[in-house]
Amino acid sequence: MAARLLPASSDPIRPSGATPLAISLDGETVAGVAGQTIAGVVLASGRLAWRRTSADGRPRGLFCGIGVCFDCIVTVNGERDVRACQRRAADGDVVEIQHDALPEVRP
Ligand code: FES
Repeated sequence: MAARLLPASSDPIRPSGATPLAISLDGETVAGVAGQTIAGVVLASGRLAWRRTSADGRPRGLFCGIGVCFDCIVTVNGERDVRACQRRAADGDVVEIQHDALPEVRP
């Protein structure tokens, strides 16, 4: 076996033999497997967007997927501004969608 090949039972990404986990996304339980990022768990549940822009209310989710754009930010276990594409999901994580209104502009 090549050094890069893992038996399916040792591969954290494959469904068979993978360790299941569950996170709470705005109170809804979402299932995933160990090794997935929070964005991966949410995308696998069928959601493509999980927050809206402050200015126009446009949907945002995964854009760059590498921690550069901040489109995927969520609150995880009370910690704000976590990039969902960079945080590995842990069983029992409480993930909340962030929406911050723009500050009022006073004349
Ligand atoms: S998708 Fe760009 S930082 Fe997460």
